[in-house]
Amino acid sequence: MKLLLLNKYDNQILRNIHEIYLSAFANSSFQIFRLEDFEDFFSMGAKIYTIYLNQDLIGYAVFLINGNVAEILSIGVKSNYQKQGYGKKLIYEFLKKFNTISKVNLEVSCKNFDAINFYLSMGFSKIGLRKNYYTFRKGDNKGKKIDALLLELNT
Ligand SMILES: CC(C)(COP(=O)(O)OP(=O)(O)OC[C@H]1O[C@@H](n2cnc3c(N)ncnc32)[C@H](O)[C@@H]1OP(=O)(O)O)[C@@H](O)C(=O)NCCC(=O)NCCS
Repeated sequence: MKLLLLNKYDNQILRNIHEIYLSAFANSSFQIFRLEDFEDFFSMGAKIYTIYLNQDLIGYAVFLINGNVAEILSIGVKSNYQKQGYGKKLIYEFLKKFNTISKVNLEVSCKNFDAINFYLSMGFSKIGLRKNYYTFRKGDNKGKKIDALLLELNT
């Protein structure tokens, strides 16, 4: 297993990351990011961590740093590798390298119970609610809005 910080623009790696995003969020009604969004994340200076198993990319996490605070813009682990500790490793690796970060926050759909449990198990706590934050992109609820939870970790 290998964890790498993307330190130069690489279109193929960004494509691979987007593929993982599509795999991780295959069951989500809120698939919103296109490849261009990951390119934008890179060009705005976000830190993009990748995790490889035997040369294969299996997960990524995108962090935007502002002072001592980092926001998780997106995190995903390939569906058949979830719940095996890789998501946690991505976040810990980031915190180890950027050790002046004192807070990490993020928004998550209030119905994404798996992800909420993941963050709570890492010590994040609920600090707020953003009403009608996400819009369902598909399924019976298409067009409807849903709240987001604001979670925070004090490191
Ligand atoms: C959320 C996600 C990134 C977590 O990564 P992961 O590799 O599956 O999670 P890990 O295996 O590192 O889990 C770490 C901890 O969270 C817990 N956890 C993970 N998924 C859980 C779940 N569904 N229910 C309860 N706990 C869970 C694990 O038990 C583990 O705790 P432990 O170390 O005490 O055993 C990954 O599952 C994913 O890509 N999900 C789909 C995309 C998504 O929802 N992204 C987040 C949107 S904000």
